[in-house]
Amino acid sequence: MSHTPRLLDPGFDLTLRPMRYPQFYEMYRDAIRNTWTVEEVDFSLDVNDLKHKLGPAERHLIERLVAFFATGDSIVANNLVLNLYQHINAPEARMYLSRQLYEEALHVQFYLTLLDTYLPDPVARAKAFAAVENIPSIRAKAEFCFKWIDSIQGLQRIETVEQRRQFLLNLICFACCIEGLFFFAAFAYVYYLRSRGLLHGLASGTNWVFRDESCHMAFAFEVIRTAREEEPHLFDDELKAQVVRMLEEAVECEMQFAQDVLSGGVAGLSPKDMRQYLQYCADQRLAQLGLPKHFNATNPFAFMDLQDVQEVTNFFERRVSAYQVGVEGEVAFDAAF
Ligand SMILES: [Fe+2]
Ligand SMILES: [Fe+2]
Repeated sequence: MSHTPRLLDPGFDLTLRPMRYPQFYEMYRDAIRNTWTVEEVDFSLDVNDLKHKLGPAERHLIERLVAFFATGDSIVANNLVLNLYQHINAPEARMYLSRQLYEEALHVQFYLTLLDTYLPDPVARAKAFAAVENIPSIRAKAEFCFKWIDSIQGLQRIETVEQRRQFLLNLICFACCIEGLFFFAAFAYVYYLRSRGLLHGLASGTNWVFRDESCHMAFAFEVIRTAREEEPHLFDDELKAQVVRMLEEAVECEMQFAQDVLSGGVAGLSPKDMRQYLQYCADQRLAQLGLPKHFNATNPFAFMDLQDVQEVTNFFERRVSAYQVGVEGEVAFDAAF
């Protein structure tokens, strides 16, 4: 076949010029400009907070949170290599995925360092790293991810319409439910703690992870938008309904975790508010997919609004002072965050 392949046509296209999807190359370049390292994060204040400032309810919250972080990004990285890289057929898009894979490794390193710092006791540490096996509310989230990894694991080539829909559902799941919901919930706990004056080291590293995850989602949404433009019939009513059901399931899964995380009773952070926040995030994801909102929830967390401003400020400060990389042209921020 001599025709130009579409993005989801199977194969390993190597042609960079003429470039079919310059937007993916630009995303790759933006990501390179956004480089950070774990060594820049200062955890020294956190250690003092952990020793002296936390009650039992907050301590439980943090234990659960770091236990989730212990494996979350490794799961995302595995899906990226096993399921996404293979099927997104443009070399410039694969450059972005390579960079994303590095960033996921960086996140794994960040949380590894965090757990090693927060949990000096080897027994507690081993327990946190094994949470995916032992803690039901974390196990449930992992099972949700594995189910969607497995749904296309056997696909060598996505040839048929049905196979392409299966692929898109996997991609949508990882962008909307895992990066865009499970991780955003975790970030909300971190910024709640920061709003109480706690764990600023964790919060400062989270700023960078937060921005990375927003970019990962933006890339996924652009892949989905492109595939939809090239093959509009892929987005039928059944696929749209499946996306809504998937988001509902993810909200329930994350709520099971919230009930556990907040079981000690954390002042100013109720399961009811967390549900509303998750529904708000889910609606944002639907909007980013070009689909109508489903939950009609507003953001109940004022401390996440503050996050918008801080994220932007930190990003520009960093670009100018820390790295001396000139700020030129438009910097696209996720409209929602
Ligand atoms: Fe990540
Ligand atoms: Fe990610």
